[in-house]
Amino acid sequence: MTPGLFLSFEGIDGSGKSTQARRLAGHLLDRGREVVLTREPGGSPGAEEIRRLVLEGDPDRWSAETELLLFTAARRDHVERVIRPALERGAVVVSDRFADSTRVYQGITRGDLGGLVDRLHDAVIGIEPDRTFLIDMPPERGLDRALAREGAETRFENFGLDMARRMRTGFLDLARRLPGRIAVIDGDRSEDAVAAAVLKALP
Ligand code: TMP
Repeated sequence: MTPGLFLSFEGIDGSGKSTQARRLAGHLLDRGREVVLTREPGGSPGAEEIRRLVLEGDPDRWSAETELLLFTAARRDHVERVIRPALERGAVVVSDRFADSTRVYQGITRGDLGGLVDRLHDAVIGIEPDRTFLIDMPPERGLDRALAREGAETRFENFGLDMARRMRTGFLDLARRLPGRIAVIDGDRSEDAVAAAVLKALP
């Protein structure tokens, strides 16, 4: 049986990573793989319910610690019910965000929760993608693109440009520390050029 493959996409809001995740999933499907395209927060029915709790409403709705527990609870459900079973079947899982988002958004930008993020990950999640594509985008461009969407999921986008800058730096620092897993892809060019770079960085 073909072994499963776990791929994730990361980046600041408006980086174009969701488009790229869809394109890669389509490419792998065309090549005959079973592909599970999924996202976080969410990806399973329970985790999608938690998604609404964390992404909608007042930016101050949750403390940083409560928010971290909600994201982690959603991830645990997603891993149990969707990701692990798919990998055990030999499928390719393409996830639009995974634990690196928590490391950056909750670990760095909402107070110094990095240690707690890592302890929780080790205790209840415990898996990492085989390859992570960090779609890098200048924060000004990302924020414009994210705000142009006008959806209800604005809790994080409301945090503004300064926060987007810190998140970008956080992702790039993480990639520097984990060059074997995280491939940095320049997202500020045509969709086709970005997609080609993603294919080149496949494991
Ligand atoms: P999305 O717009 O890519 O679907 O992501 C939703 C938002 O959730 C985005 O602003 C980043 C945030 N987020 C976290 O803060 N922590 C996490 O662990 C995840 C997965 C997302």
